[in-house]
Amino acid sequence: MEHPFAKPAMAFALLAAALVFGAGAASAATAPAGKFTATAKVSSVDEAADQGAQIFANDTFGTKQTWVPPNAFNSHLMTCAACHTDGGKTEGTTPAGAHLPSLIGAAAKYPKFKAKKHAVYTLERQIVHCVRAGIMGKPPGYNSPEMIDLVAYLTQLSKGATMGQQFK
Ligand code: HEC
Repeated sequence: MEHPFAKPAMAFALLAAALVFGAGAASAATAPAGKFTATAKVSSVDEAADQGAQIFANDTFGTKQTWVPPNAFNSHLMTCAACHTDGGKTEGTTPAGAHLPSLIGAAAKYPKFKAKKHAVYTLERQIVHCVRAGIMGKPPGYNSPEMIDLVAYLTQLSKGATMGQQFK
């Protein structure tokens, strides 16, 4: 109730549980252990963004939640890409079926005021929220290489977008 995101996440948890119970232990065993770690040294913001794209596509943040991508047979561990389709460049869909706008231009809308929480969300805080409530994993630290690379990637997706539109 308090959170716009709690419902699809909850619905997805039930769906994931149903999948795991329905298909037996074999389904959990076939989920690839996909933890991606940002270890490569980066020497420019473009390289950080490239690595951020890898994290976005592959990092599972220690989750045990699985989903079955369209046209796939096996379940996969959750990643950002489970909901934000095609690296966030097109409209996305949560496993519960909710439509999400593309992330192109999204970074320029931050910091964003969240009236229900009386909070101003930075892009980092939104990412933490998506890892906790969406992926159900352990979020990267605010100053971690993973966070920095994700922010670089999302900012690259917003190249040329006009900042400050959230203000009257
Ligand atoms: C289970 C589905 C799901 C996953 C997985 C997920 N997200 Fe999200 N994301 C959402 C939903 C739903 C919203 C919009 C509502 C909200 O903010 O809760 C959203 C919103 C966002 C926004 C804000 C867009 C805007 O216009 O303000 C960003 C940025 C974002 N996600 C990044 C990420 C990143 C990075 C990851 C991986 C670390 C991720 N998301 C994983 C569902 C997901």
